[in-house]
Amino acid sequence: MSDRIRAPRGTYDVLPEDALARERLETSAKGILERAGYARIETPIFEATELFARGVGESTDVVQKEMYTFRDEGITLRPEGTAPVCRAYLEQGMHKLPQPVKLWYLGAFFRRERPQQGRFRQFWQLGAEAIGSDDPAVDAESILLLAEILEALAARGLRLRISSLGTPATRAEYRDELQAYLREHEDRLSREVRERIELNPLRAFDADHPGTREVMRGAPLLLDRLTPEDHEHFETVTQLLDTVGLAYEVDPTLVRGLDYYTRTVFEFTSDALGAQSGVGGGGRYDGLMEQIGGPATPGMGWAAGLERMLLASPPPPTAPPPLDLYVAYAKPEHEAEAFRLAADTRRAGLAARVELGGRSLKGQLRQADRAGARYVAILGDEGTSLKDMETGEQREVETGTVMHHIGRPPL
Ligand code: HAM
Repeated sequence: MSDRIRAPRGTYDVLPEDALARERLETSAKGILERAGYARIETPIFEATELFARGVGESTDVVQKEMYTFRDEGITLRPEGTAPVCRAYLEQGMHKLPQPVKLWYLGAFFRRERPQQGRFRQFWQLGAEAIGSDDPAVDAESILLLAEILEALAARGLRLRISSLGTPATRAEYRDELQAYLREHEDRLSREVRERIELNPLRAFDADHPGTREVMRGAPLLLDRLTPEDHEHFETVTQLLDTVGLAYEVDPTLVRGLDYYTRTVFEFTSDALGAQSGVGGGGRYDGLMEQIGGPATPGMGWAAGLERMLLASPPPPTAPPPLDLYVAYAKPEHEAEAFRLAADTRRAGLAARVELGGRSLKGQLRQADRAGARYVAILGDEGTSLKDMETGEQREVETGTVMHHIGRPPL
């Protein structure tokens, strides 16, 4: 025997018992999003590498080291969904639709990260994007919808943090100010942060290193440097969240791992998760459309990791799917008739199974019982007998009338 082939690191199998929880999440999220006017979109699993390089940003970890790229073709397995949805918006002329255009998606994404609890190389995201309006109510509604989805799942230990990154111009000025501050305190920073002062000084707020954290406590905050318009936008978002009674913390040090954000950013974490506590997050990306070659178009959205949402929630109660009829037979010559009875019953919209494992009649009856069958039809030389598994009552019937006997009474 040769070596057994295993699944690649950072991937997992969705077994039938896991599929139920995923299905429930999908149904619930779809209901919540579609009641708010979001429609489902599916974009390709791979896109032009350039889309992410320009959309997500060259300086991000995602683009620098986490993408699965086929260099010869210039394509990349999607690491996130916002740039692809914006690409589709432009390419499909969605600016002609009433704005904002609200789209949601659920699918597999790929990042070459170090696998650990809650962090995979192939993972699933549920996402929602509202494109074409810069109204702060779009931001508040978007955040509220993710809150409602997480609440419907009964996700534990949730915390919502929110901030504003302002406009690119404010950010550039602030970046200079922060870089100057970091350089001033360079000797107390971790090597990693020191090396990233030029490329991504904002990430310094993310550091675990004690010296760096100490320095960052006195660092200037972007939230204090916002323009009056951005400040007002942020105020309106938080006021609307207050109006609907959604609790949040304003966290001026909130950084997101992707470059396209402007104004509002937010993140839900759960303390039911380990180190990878980010359940979902997002924000506004008013400059992204131009980055990828379109006209200036505002956008706002989020994505949440399916695995992390499920890890943070209690598992749904499991019940075996109902089985209306199990068709058993004593001898091989009854197999075809049994096969047809099961097929006819399913065509009539009922759940029916026939023996497929070559079991003895006794084995078949045990199997029917284990599967929770409501009725068992036993085909034999003497005809067909139908057993009601609830009452234990058994009677002889014509094979052709089995469906009539087991059919659900009209409502
Ligand atoms: P993100 O924060 O990079 O944002 O990812 C969103 C969520 O995806 C995370 O909160 C996490 O739950 C999940 N996630 C990310 N990476 C992994 C991984 N390796 N394994 C398991 N789960 C993971 C975005 O992707 C943005 N596109 C969100 C957005 C939409 N912003 C605006 N619109």
